[in-house]
Amino acid sequence: MSATSPSQSIVDLHRPGAASDVFVGKALASPSLPSFACQRAVIGLPEVSEVDVVRHFTCLSQESHGVDNGPYPLGSCTMKYNPKRNDELARLPGFLSAHPMQDVDTLRGVWELYERLQALVSEVTGMDACCLAPAAGAHGELAGLLVIRKHFAQLGANRPVVLVPDSAHGTNPASAAMAGFDCRIVPSDLRGRVDIVSLREMLTPDVAAFMLTNPSTLGLFEDQIVEIADAVHANGSLLYYDGANLNALMGIVRPGDMGFDVVHVNVHKTFSTPHGGGGPGAGPVAVKAALAAYLPNPVVIRKDGIAQPDGDRPLSIGRMKSFHGHVGVLLRAYGYLRTMGARGLREASENAVLNANYLQHRLAPMLPPVYRQFCKHETLLSGEKLNTSARQFAKRLIDYGIHPPTLVGAGCVYFPGDLKSAMLIEPTETETKASLDYQVEIFERVFNEDATDEALVGRAPLSRKIARLDLKN
Ligand SMILES: Cc1ncc(COP(=O)(O)O)c(C=O)c1O
Repeated sequence: MSATSPSQSIVDLHRPGAASDVFVGKALASPSLPSFACQRAVIGLPEVSEVDVVRHFTCLSQESHGVDNGPYPLGSCTMKYNPKRNDELARLPGFLSAHPMQDVDTLRGVWELYERLQALVSEVTGMDACCLAPAAGAHGELAGLLVIRKHFAQLGANRPVVLVPDSAHGTNPASAAMAGFDCRIVPSDLRGRVDIVSLREMLTPDVAAFMLTNPSTLGLFEDQIVEIADAVHANGSLLYYDGANLNALMGIVRPGDMGFDVVHVNVHKTFSTPHGGGGPGAGPVAVKAALAAYLPNPVVIRKDGIAQPDGDRPLSIGRMKSFHGHVGVLLRAYGYLRTMGARGLREASENAVLNANYLQHRLAPMLPPVYRQFCKHETLLSGEKLNTSARQFAKRLIDYGIHPPTLVGAGCVYFPGDLKSAMLIEPTETETKASLDYQVEIFERVFNEDATDEALVGRAPLSRKIARLDLKN
């Protein structure tokens, strides 16, 4: 029953003192509380009815754009639909009521889940051992790089440098710096791939690792990956796989088979868990057997038939996360992997690639691809034919219920080369053909507006309460 009378408006309810006297009175009357702990004055907490709370939050939820209310082709950020059945799984009472402070022996279900998920992540990535605890992709990067640092420290080798391609996501050099490495940038060639000649020159004895995303953040598969892996290993260095784009390759090729030694997986991109605005998420880190001893804790093993955290890991880099990681997110990832199965994962990747190529092809007359070739899960499109700019074009899409793609070029996300105005589009595998056709229709409409009414596109978005936080942009 509502604590407020039906005649009270939500404005009345925010009046100081409205309706909260009841609770203050109760506290004063309680014999179990010492008097100094009792509030004597009326504190004026607002009291609102359930229906008003629901309306308030429903209204707030509609103020921002999410994948549940429209297309979200945000390249490099993979906003795909999160199956609701996984939310149900994450609400299973046994998991929901588990407490992080509980004795580890009483969390058998969690360890069982972890052991199974560790095995699935290792299988999909082609690695031998895995820790699920890191809280996001970038956190997984840090964990993986600390593992690499520990490995060389154990060998007594002085390798303070990490190489990163110029197409890398910004978290790669940031994680390398956080892990205590100096970062050097490897240029791309004219095809948008790692310039292997430069890479060979940069592979000096002080290099610990080369960090690579494959396919890259340009949506291109590094087709020289075998030569790259051989060159890195011949130098005594390790190859790190940023798994953010694994959703293009699941079930087709595994990072371990391409020659990578360390991998992190962004479960919100690959295994369809909610992104959560950068967290709380999960970024499991997986490694080849030679590095397994350094993985962070907990790593779950089966001992005497019971799944449990391995208590004997003296070489571990330690904990990356308080308690045991984000169980609710990992449950969703497990649900996704089990529901999809091996064939389903492959199909998801094939559809991600097909959808991106379909959009690339349909949008090409308006927004030609920067690299004129098939893409993987995302495509980089040039705004060279626009009267306004890719930035303005993207802002106008908001008025038609489409989230702006990732913007690339001057004043936006940095990308290699001399890109003045471009956008990175990732439709994801979860959009239907009808949805892709709808997106093309909207892109065509905005393209025509750009040709006929530049000022209109220049003022966009026109449908939002707040159009621009930064008026210059
Ligand atoms: C290629 C790449 N690497 C790393 C990250 C960082 O991942 P997270 O957002 O999970 O920290 C992203 C995120 O978009 C990415 O696209």
